[in-house]
Amino acid sequence: MKKIAVVGTGYVGLVTGTCFAETGNQVVCVDIDEQKVEKMRNGFVPIYEPHLDVLFERNIKANRLSFTTSLEEGIEDAEIIFLALPTPPGEDGSADLSYILGVADELGKLIKEYKVIVDKSTVPVGTAEKVHAAVQANAKVDFDIVSNPEFLREGFAVDDFLKPDRVVIGTSSERAEKVMEQLYKPFVRQGNPIIFMDEKSAELTKYAANSFLATKITFMNEIANFCEKVGADVDKVRIGIGSDTRIGKRFLFPGIGYGGSCFPKDVQALVKSGREENFEFEILNAVMAINEQQKTVLLPKIKNFFRGNLKGKRIGMWGLAFKPDTDDIREAPALYMIEALLKEGAQIKAYDPEAMENVKSQIGDVISYEANEYDALKEVDALIICTEWGIFRNPDFGKMKENMKDAVIFDGRNLFDIEEMTSKGFYYNSIGRKT
Ligand code: UGA
Repeated sequence: MKKIAVVGTGYVGLVTGTCFAETGNQVVCVDIDEQKVEKMRNGFVPIYEPHLDVLFERNIKANRLSFTTSLEEGIEDAEIIFLALPTPPGEDGSADLSYILGVADELGKLIKEYKVIVDKSTVPVGTAEKVHAAVQANAKVDFDIVSNPEFLREGFAVDDFLKPDRVVIGTSSERAEKVMEQLYKPFVRQGNPIIFMDEKSAELTKYAANSFLATKITFMNEIANFCEKVGADVDKVRIGIGSDTRIGKRFLFPGIGYGGSCFPKDVQALVKSGREENFEFEILNAVMAINEQQKTVLLPKIKNFFRGNLKGKRIGMWGLAFKPDTDDIREAPALYMIEALLKEGAQIKAYDPEAMENVKSQIGDVISYEANEYDALKEVDALIICTEWGIFRNPDFGKMKENMKDAVIFDGRNLFDIEEMTSKGFYYNSIGRKT
């Protein structure tokens, strides 16, 4: 059992704190937002993430998970302090470290005995050094800094945390290495590795992993776009190349671009870090440019279908979140589609199982929010599928056709079989496949 403080109860902090409590540690989560802390004390989970609520409640009840607004109180007994603070992109695309360095500065004044201070947020190479300097400026006791990047996916965060493919620990201190090894041992029982390295390599590992995955998706999106030009089927090509274990089957699904709070931000931040060193990531520049276009790749197809005029057309939209099983709409391709369609004069009737509130608070009533997936189809000229929620995968096609004015589907996530859709009487246009 270890005593842990987690500073910042955003997505990463909350999952980290809850999952460490679940493995028997004593965890105090610290956040400056009083209302949020009060709600969490009452068992309210401030984000939507499958399975988190059950673990959250269980560990609060067992007194292993508690919350405070006081950094001093939160870290007092902790041997390990996790920093899970926001690193939003600044105006120039580089990560803003002011939250992390602000807390590091405070910690220097507050710590009274040895602590392991861990960067859990995604931070540019060299941040551990900066955090070290900020703590050191005021510290009167020993401490170590560790870079421990997080690889969890939204929607699978609890599972990813409890059963990680690998744990990356960046530290130059043997003492901190031992503490971190003990902490993570319960999570790597299946033989998955804890990989130790220096701080800078750990920091870069995180950016390199996300940038590689974003590149893999983008490559597949380009192949899909080319498939349409030459009449090939991207599903076949995907399986054909994915069966080579050097390429691998995962993250090869083409679509309407990657979104979310991680890939777009991290690719941009790595490019920016490169520029600071007079290093140009040409491949990532291309990835960003292609992804930008991909978010609205359906628009020319839709315009073409309606002979260039979308004025007054009613469009149903299935899915708003950047991916299924989350209410997160940051950099969601659906939002780019909405903007483009509204500009063309179309009307949008949308449905998403979790993300509608978030969209409404961001863009208001410029689109209509429907009670279910079939209401979003009433009298529409076409349906656009933007997110591959499970509920959209196996719909009542008869009911769909009854509700729609015309049985026309533009599918940005390739949910259905083309032959089946054609035999059911739909016009079905997807990504990288025949129409
Ligand atoms: C991503 C990484 O997968 C995590 O490993 C990482 O920890 C996380 O970022 C982070 O840095 O915090 P996440 O953003 O939650 O996780 O979502 P993913 O499941 O990776 O999907 C990202 C985007 O890629 C989505 O827009 C998704 O639709 C798209 N995608 C994914 C595709 O278009 N095709 C695919 O084959 C896979």
